[in-house]
Amino acid sequence: MSSNQDDIPESSSDGRSGSPAPSLYSFSSSVDGQLMLRQVYGRVLNNANDTYFLPADTEEHRRLDLQHQVITLALGGLYPAPDLVRRALRPRPGKAPAVLDVGTGSGSWAIDMAKQFPHCTVVGVDLVPPRVDGDLPPNCRFEIDDANLGFSHYRETFDLIHARSISSGIRDYPQFLDELAQALRRDGVVIVGDGDMQLFDEWQQPLAYAEEGAPGFSWTHRMFFAAYNAMKNRGGSIDSPSMCPTWLRANDAYTDVGWHKVFIPIGPWRQNSNPRERLIAEMLREDCLRYIAGLTPLLLSEGYLPESVEMMQREASAELRELRARIYSRWTFAWAVKK
Ligand SMILES: C[S@@+](CC[C@H](N)C(=O)[O-])C[C@H]1O[C@@H](n2cnc3c(N)ncnc32)[C@H](O)[C@@H]1O
Repeated sequence: MSSNQDDIPESSSDGRSGSPAPSLYSFSSSVDGQLMLRQVYGRVLNNANDTYFLPADTEEHRRLDLQHQVITLALGGLYPAPDLVRRALRPRPGKAPAVLDVGTGSGSWAIDMAKQFPHCTVVGVDLVPPRVDGDLPPNCRFEIDDANLGFSHYRETFDLIHARSISSGIRDYPQFLDELAQALRRDGVVIVGDGDMQLFDEWQQPLAYAEEGAPGFSWTHRMFFAAYNAMKNRGGSIDSPSMCPTWLRANDAYTDVGWHKVFIPIGPWRQNSNPRERLIAEMLREDCLRYIAGLTPLLLSEGYLPESVEMMQREASAELRELRARIYSRWTFAWAVKK
């Protein structure tokens, strides 16, 4: 562990006795990852939080690596609001700047940030251990925890907190934003972002629900609609992407709220797109194909019959591969500064 990590409390079990997750610890210590995992309908899921019911296996972590590349390309960097981030993480005497990545997944964002800001400490937290290929930068570490339990052990510790694509695992998002505010140092920055489960048509208007055979029907949309309902029934904050700017403004701990929305075509169906846009669209299509394949446990647990899930997956995948649907995915990022 490098010396610039000394400012961050290492391990704690304070107030965590009722936790479904083990007490907080560093991934660099001996972790039996199997304790956090369970087999459900042929995929490996986390064993600590029933709200988040997507896979947590190597296959999913590879998908998250791909999605990380898509978002980084679409944003033109690892984060929106680059001026705020660079100001929050500027080198300064005394405490080393610290970054928290909540719901770090495969750990790609945390590792890339640790490389980009070698003078900072980066901590990634997730329900399950990340998949780390190669060397972990010395200024990066991972911990296993459930964000729904709060961050009372991390009061005024971080200069940047990032939480991307974890809405479906968060039970009370405004409360989560409140917890993040308390874990931020003064002038620290929070960035939250997620892809909408609502999909958009070629004019970037929300796709309306349509029955099979009706004009505008799409199997991809049907899959996302089914997943949206299942996630909502499990208590996930799945509507949070569009609500975050409002929630951040309503929270007295924050100021300078900003947001950014980016539409990305799912597949290279757009005429006249340049090679870079085409590449991003192709990568997002591959991401979506893998995402759809990983929805099996969620949909079966919701009561769908295996043959219905297989049929929806087959039809949606064919639709995407054959570019039969002209669909956009929308990603919304919101940020704010701690007062
Ligand atoms: C879709 S992945 C996104 C990973 C990463 N943030 C990214 O953008 O590549 C969601 C991750 O959040 C984690 N997660 C969901 N709910 C969580 C919670 N309550 N506490 C901690 N991690 C959570 C999941 O285990 C999963 O790894």
